[in-house]
Amino acid sequence: MAQSSATTWLVTGGNRGLGLEFVQNLLRDPSNVVITTARNPDQASTLQDLRSKLPQQLHILQLDVTDELSIPRFAKEAEGILGERGLDYLLNNAGVMKADTPLTFKAEDFLSTFKINVLGPALVLQALSPALEKGRRKVVVNVSSRLGSISAVGKVGRQYAATYSACKAAFNMVTVKTACEKPEFIVYALSPGHNKTDLGGSAAPLDPKETIPVLLKFIVASASEHSGKSWDYWGDKVQEYEW
Ligand SMILES: NC(=O)c1ccc[n+]([C@@H]2O[C@H](COP(=O)([O-])OP(=O)(O)OC[C@H]3O[C@@H](n4cnc5c(N)ncnc54)[C@H](OP(=O)(O)O)[C@@H]3O)[C@@H](O)[C@H]2O)c1
Repeated sequence: MAQSSATTWLVTGGNRGLGLEFVQNLLRDPSNVVITTARNPDQASTLQDLRSKLPQQLHILQLDVTDELSIPRFAKEAEGILGERGLDYLLNNAGVMKADTPLTFKAEDFLSTFKINVLGPALVLQALSPALEKGRRKVVVNVSSRLGSISAVGKVGRQYAATYSACKAAFNMVTVKTACEKPEFIVYALSPGHNKTDLGGSAAPLDPKETIPVLLKFIVASASEHSGKSWDYWGDKVQEYEW
């Protein structure tokens, strides 16, 4: 169980990409206890290596956010690790993207992407809400994208990644509604910028090794005035942007 002096984190999708970079950065501070998730923990070799070196600090739980019935089981496992200490930070990071357009997407792809990017993280937040209530910080970071901003469509994206953009716009609304329902939580959307990952592609301008420390600095310092808003990594700093 996490000690009372620990700062507790849960990062979904820690197997690769931005999630793995979040986990690696967090583990550099020995006061952090990090729970992360992978769909197939046995195959998450980098996470397993880290776990073997830092068994008190890192916990890996199995989670497929589309498996609705397994989310309460996952939350119970997380609560078993957190105990009375509760959860300080939830990073709802897991997500997928398809390069489609409004006139080409397939219904089944739309629904499955929506399940991973909107319904899944919303259910994860519901299930972890009691642990967050017990936490000292109660911060929920819903990892979003500038592509989900309707006001930014003229600047980024246009017709590109229509399903993904619609998902992130919906996820933004879930974020605002959560902030309204839970004023004691600090809950906001955070767009990490266009990073080199499997999702972002190798031509992306940003390197997660540089982006994630800046995002974590923002997350750790975030306070109630950040809640219910949308934040974006832009030009090596984090700033508010219109939904
Ligand atoms: N990279 C960018 O440029 C960029 C820009 C804006 C926003 N974002 C957002 O940042 C977040 C992370 O993206 P990324 O670039 O790190 O992507 P990534 O490298 O493709 O990694 C995606 C992560 O999500 C997990 N995941 C996918 N489907 C899942 C499911 N059904 N259940 C549980 N976990 C699942 C993956 O787990 P497995 O390894 O098991 O597949 C993986 O850990 C996403 O929400 C994305 O929308 C990224």
